[in-house]
Amino acid sequence: MRVIETVNEMARWPRTGNIVLVPTMGALHEGHRKLIKTGKALTQGEGNLIVSIYVNPTQFNDKEDFKAYPKTSEQDYEMCKEEEVDLIFCPSDNEMYSERESVSVIEKRLARHLCGSTRQGHFDGVCTVVTKLFNIIRPTTAVFGKKDYQQLAIIKQLVSDLNFSIEILGAETIREQNGLAISSRNRFLNTEERKQCHAIHKALVEMDLSNEKQCSELITLGKSIIKSEAPLGRLDYLEIVDRQTMEPIQTIDRPALAAMAIFFGNTRLIDNIEINSL
Ligand code: PAJ
Repeated sequence: MRVIETVNEMARWPRTGNIVLVPTMGALHEGHRKLIKTGKALTQGEGNLIVSIYVNPTQFNDKEDFKAYPKTSEQDYEMCKEEEVDLIFCPSDNEMYSERESVSVIEKRLARHLCGSTRQGHFDGVCTVVTKLFNIIRPTTAVFGKKDYQQLAIIKQLVSDLNFSIEILGAETIREQNGLAISSRNRFLNTEERKQCHAIHKALVEMDLSNEKQCSELITLGKSIIKSEAPLGRLDYLEIVDRQTMEPIQTIDRPALAAMAIFFGNTRLIDNIEINSL
């Protein structure tokens, strides 16, 4: 497994066959492992699987949050080795952003909703760093998790709007046994919060299983499950949106997404479920 830290070296790296990229910010867990396995399968034994590990400062609204982001390089490298990753690209901040940088990528529509409405500039930071990674690594395919569904939808829009010839693949969310979506933030939950967190996935599944087509009724159903089974949780949002545009919808008359953000103490968790219109 090769480890490359500079843009120059990455540019010179010889490419053949499918080049599959899994972009991450490190602190790799079982959710990332699934993405890496999906990526490996896509190389079909002849191309190359690249994992990028870079904690991107421009997508953090909060400096403290950025500083506190867990760094576990040794374990990350171990997981990548286990999964037969061909190359890790792990640049420094100086490699990625020059002091004189003045151009960035701005997303104007999908980021108005859900997480984008409270995390000002977050998705512009994501779009900028992902554009840079695409240009530096030049993958043929990139894998993103449905756990961050809005991010996935925005990256698909970015690839279409900026004419990247890169296939974007969405991988299913990996969960703990009680349904909680795996996240590097789960480690901040205390025992009681951890118990109550099962209600997040449960509420979303109940919403999906219900035959109700009125979104307001579905949201009421989801909120009532959270209220009774996760009293320590403070909902940031629970919304039903169009799966492509991220715009709120009134009835389930197209492929929809129920998405939730919820605080337990200072820990903000997100999750979602696809709801089909059939
Ligand atoms: P990060 O939070 O490290 O996530 C990397 C990828 O792992 C994302 O595509 C995310 O959706 C996916 N992921 C996280 N938890 C998952 C889970 N439980 N199941 C399946 N996939 C999961 O997302 C980012 O980094 C950054 O914004 C990045 C795209 C790298 C740009 O900086």
